[in-house]
Amino acid sequence: MPERSFQHILLTGGCGFIGTNFVRFVMEHRPGVRLTNLDALTYSGNGESLRDLEEDDRYRFVHGDIRDRALMDGLVRECDAVVHMAAESHVDRSIQDASPFISTNVGGTQTLLDAVRQAKTEGHDARMCYVSTDEVYGQLPLDRPDLLFREDTPIAPSSPYAASKAAGDLLCGAYHHTFGLDLVTTRCSNNFGAYQFPEKVIPLFVTNLIEGEQVPLYGDGRNVRDWLHVLDHCEAVLTVLERGTSGVAYNIGGNNERSNLELTHEILRCMGAGEEKIRNVPDRLGHDLRYAIDASKIKRELGWSPTRSAWPEALDSTVAWYRDNDSWWRRVKSGEYREYYQKMYGEPAS
Ligand code: NAD
Ligand code: TYD
Repeated sequence: MPERSFQHILLTGGCGFIGTNFVRFVMEHRPGVRLTNLDALTYSGNGESLRDLEEDDRYRFVHGDIRDRALMDGLVRECDAVVHMAAESHVDRSIQDASPFISTNVGGTQTLLDAVRQAKTEGHDARMCYVSTDEVYGQLPLDRPDLLFREDTPIAPSSPYAASKAAGDLLCGAYHHTFGLDLVTTRCSNNFGAYQFPEKVIPLFVTNLIEGEQVPLYGDGRNVRDWLHVLDHCEAVLTVLERGTSGVAYNIGGNNERSNLELTHEILRCMGAGEEKIRNVPDRLGHDLRYAIDASKIKRELGWSPTRSAWPEALDSTVAWYRDNDSWWRRVKSGEYREYYQKMYGEPAS
């Protein structure tokens, strides 16, 4: 597949964790590209993270919702590529209440697809990349380290979050098949890095430790995740957008599996904290045991593999970012998040 170059990317969800990093990555590595960032600024979206780019005339922020069809119709027509990241993204919240997940991740994705479809009927053919997740595959057993998620592994999501992302993923496939939309999909493992909302395990544990609090480890801590640095993910998404074959999904992974207990010990080491900081809390309902990715296809077909995800360096530099950006996460940890934390863990977020 020859490399495509784009002039104007519409990014949805660009004020979230991966979106913020993606905006910065594109601004730095694609100097000829303009980017419009459409974000509803839900609890996990933070306009402050990109405030310094406001003067850059290659960058534009639009405050709006992917479920607003008229808005999406207008924005899609201005761009030649759409990178769709906007989502409700936290598994625990989806267990508390699945409604916003279905509304945004399914309904919002459908609205966006309809806008891309409508534009195509008018001769405006934008390529779309759907940023899916490895969680659409469900879980792998702990006693079979030889098993990995492949792109042809059946879609079998376990959590309401994963089911809503899987529905979006399947809708994208259906719109490619039925209407011929130019569509590529990425399915990535757990990301870590700067600007991640501190409800996710790494920034939650790091910022709790900075505040002298304990870290809430679910169940026995044996659950395994594959960790990828967010900038590796951004590079892979851009690679798939520019070089991926239409209608095809690509796995993205860090080849960096850790149990949550191992991860917790790594974080305690980085922070110079002891075991007494671990607080064992009840397990997440339906907690997926293991995620592990076979990312050989993207390497073989598109020549991409991670270069920024190796531990301990990548984890150390992430921890350092949260230490150095105290005011960013302290603001984020206040407000609505305080209420959520109390409901989740039974004590106030300090
Ligand atoms: P995030 O929660 O940090 O950011 C989501 C962003 O979407 C926020 O800025 C929010 O304001 C915006 N948003 C939510 N609903 C919206 C709506 N209706 N209209 C417009 N904007 C809306 O999430 P993240 O961790 O950055 O994840 C981004 C994407 O990547 C998601 O689609 C997620 O499923 C996927 N993903 C995440 C990971 C991970 O480890 N974080 C791994 C694989 C895939
Ligand atoms: P999380 O960061 O929520 O990502 P995901 O559920 O999408 O993988 O959680 C990563 C792992 O950390 C997951 O196995 C659940 C576990 N976890 C804890 O042990 N304690 C916590 O407080 C959180 C938020 C997660």
